[in-house]
Amino acid sequence: MSYPKDCWYVAATRDELDGAGDGFTARRLLDTLVLLFRLADGSVAALEDRCAHRPYPLSAGHREGDLVVCGYHGCTYDATGRCVRVPSQDNPPSGARVRTYPVVEHGPFVWIWIGTPGGERLRPPPATPWLHDGAWSSVGERRDVAADLLLLHEHYLDLTNVFAMHPEMVPPGIEALPPLEEVEVSELSVSYKRELPKAPLAPWEAQVSGLDSDESFGRTETGAFVTPGLHKQTYTISGSGGPELELVRTHAFTPRSSGATHVFLQISWRGAAVPPDAGEQLAAVFHEMASRDSAVLETMQRYLDEDTTPRRYFNVKADRAAVRARRILTSMVEDERGR
Ligand code: FES
Repeated sequence: MSYPKDCWYVAATRDELDGAGDGFTARRLLDTLVLLFRLADGSVAALEDRCAHRPYPLSAGHREGDLVVCGYHGCTYDATGRCVRVPSQDNPPSGARVRTYPVVEHGPFVWIWIGTPGGERLRPPPATPWLHDGAWSSVGERRDVAADLLLLHEHYLDLTNVFAMHPEMVPPGIEALPPLEEVEVSELSVSYKRELPKAPLAPWEAQVSGLDSDESFGRTETGAFVTPGLHKQTYTISGSGGPELELVRTHAFTPRSSGATHVFLQISWRGAAVPPDAGEQLAAVFHEMASRDSAVLETMQRYLDEDTTPRRYFNVKADRAAVRARRILTSMVEDERGR
């Protein structure tokens, strides 16, 4: 296992569940097959996607209101996982049930707890006010990346790859990112901040901000490993009067299994001069970035899988936050193994 289980992770987006209508959203999460659907009262149910009678997916069956009917012999389950009907006999066997999982819906995300039962009561999912506050707008996408959770966190905690991988994102005249000014570490999180010198706007910045591309602006960039399931980056373009455009890139990372991760990306923004089509522009810009990032991450994962010779990689100053995140993730996994 290369990921901690005792953590809230995003299982799906609200849009995915609503788009499924009377159907199901079936997904492999933390090596567990899960079935999600919205109940008549608006809440969300998450059941093990495997019938308790035989190893057949419940997602291959159908719904009768809030009940789930298996497509093999018709055994039927309620949203608490209890088997309430077996067509071939009067009563279901006592105790026949499938496992259910705690779920919390916040803004665009549906969070799930697959770890130790009861552990979800010790801590809530991380707060993401920028994803539900009316002052912000957001667009999102989901993708599967064939790379381990740890590789993703490390990648997004070090943006110095931007010059090689995404040169069009760099403001004109900036040739190197300044060193990380602050790296804050708590027991379970890491964050960093850096300020960029004033520079004119890159074409994408001018398009999405509505600002004058001939003027020079400062930028503040922050990044945070909030939990194993959530990564947050901010990018603020400021003029003499303060922030002109604030962007938040939210990555919810959910292990599918070791070496494979669901990535839920949300881009959020606010700014006084932002044009009406900023959402489409931002979605396109960050989709392209995510595609290039995925290609590199999947290549690294392939190398790790194909050549398992142990080796030590060197670190540079820009890796400080990533190294801390690796330590936190590794110790969480070891703690769970030791229990
Ligand atoms: S396998 Fe589901 S009812 Fe038999």
